[in-house]
Amino acid sequence: KDIQALTFVLFGATGDLAKRKLFPALYNLFLAEKLPNSFSVIGLGRREWSHEFFHSKIEESLRTYARKDVQEDSLQDFLNHFQYSPLDVTDKSAYKRLQTHIEDREIELNIPGNRLFYLAVDPNLVEVITENLHASGLNQTSGWRRLVVEKPFGTDLKSAQQLNKKLSEAFDEMEIYRIDHYLGKPMVQNLASLVFANPALASLLDLKQIANVQITASETVGVETRAAYYDNAGAIRDMVQNHLLQLVMMTALHLPENITAEEIGNKKIEVIESLKPIEKEDAHKHVIRGQYRAGEVLDTPVIGYLDEPGVPENSMNDTYFAARLHIDNPVWGEIPFYIRTGKRLDQKSTRIVFEFKKQKRALIPAEELVPNLLTLEINPSEGISLKLNIKEPSSERFKPTCINFKTNTDDQSDAYELLLFDAMLGNATFFAHWDEVELSWKWIQPLLEAFENNLLPLHTYPAGSTGPEAADELLKSNNFKWW
Ligand code: BG6
Repeated sequence: KDIQALTFVLFGATGDLAKRKLFPALYNLFLAEKLPNSFSVIGLGRREWSHEFFHSKIEESLRTYARKDVQEDSLQDFLNHFQYSPLDVTDKSAYKRLQTHIEDREIELNIPGNRLFYLAVDPNLVEVITENLHASGLNQTSGWRRLVVEKPFGTDLKSAQQLNKKLSEAFDEMEIYRIDHYLGKPMVQNLASLVFANPALASLLDLKQIANVQITASETVGVETRAAYYDNAGAIRDMVQNHLLQLVMMTALHLPENITAEEIGNKKIEVIESLKPIEKEDAHKHVIRGQYRAGEVLDTPVIGYLDEPGVPENSMNDTYFAARLHIDNPVWGEIPFYIRTGKRLDQKSTRIVFEFKKQKRALIPAEELVPNLLTLEINPSEGISLKLNIKEPSSERFKPTCINFKTNTDDQSDAYELLLFDAMLGNATFFAHWDEVELSWKWIQPLLEAFENNLLPLHTYPAGSTGPEAADELLKSNNFKWW
């Protein structure tokens, strides 16, 4: 299927996301000839930029961040699709001028009224922009209309519900595309086909043989310059409510049966609905929160969270989160899911590990064997590995051995490229739908309250480590360890 001619109305065109992700993604799609010929991008921002200055900024972004080298002979053709218009998004009357601008371009480029509104803006502005799009009539077009919103989607259950109510006054659920860039990662998108195309893998993942599932999203970076946002969000809102719970849903839904892309949405809801609630009084039994101290990350000394610029000296914010979850349905029954994420850890890695049950028959001393592991590496490298016990003929002993497959990611589309393409095409499979988002907030809400009321300790961990020791204890109590 091809993308139809459209206008891409980009709020936040002077911002960081546009520069780092959106322009390069559009450019890669352009080079791959996936964009329609009639394609208009109207960049909007507070600053008084000219079209030419806007073009120079886009060019700079492509030269810095695009996956492919800039093709000098077609660069201007690409840039010609872009125009800039200064806009105070809170000024209702300014949207009329914007409407004229969009319509003029639609006529000039022969674009039917297909409009994609992309809100790459401060979350506080999402409501007012949507309201003004609606009030000005900009979203009433003769073609299709879509709204793409970035995370965070609300800051708790109530604010997410309020935000959604506002959005649904202007757009139908089918027209709202909530970006979760973890759903754009190729390995996550390929989970379905991996199991579908490989019956061997599917039978390997026979749930009777699985001891636990571990999902890790560890980062080496600290809070960077985002303290104003991050100190209020914490790992729980920044990573868990969205990315990690989406990974839990995506992992759980593909087993044990083959499902089609159309079924993904409903299956995800089934999974998140079955996620056993953790009451706030019980949070301390199942959840570990942590904050990094000074330490060394990849051989470089770094300061602790409390010394980071913009972080209040007594901040109780979580930069690490780990939890034990249960998907309370007949399929997953007693198999625990362990999830963890944190900043300033020892490595950058997003992965899903299936740990298999140990051999019960005592022919071989248990301590000689490691559990078999199937690991799906999502990021930054991508691949599959299987850890087995292989006997070394010379020593008669077993040695853990990994069978490794790494995907060649050199020429691979990145998450934003895949997601922008889908949004322009009208395929919402890999976006977060309201029910999932709401159920994720419902599950998280008691934990937010437990954090707020300090019902569980805030552990610290040295930067460059694998996280607080308490997180190891969480698994030790079930005779497991993190992989
Ligand atoms: C973002 C978070 O959503 O995801 C960041 O706001 C985090 O804090 C980032 O660093 C991680 O994404 P990735 O793709 O690098 O794993």
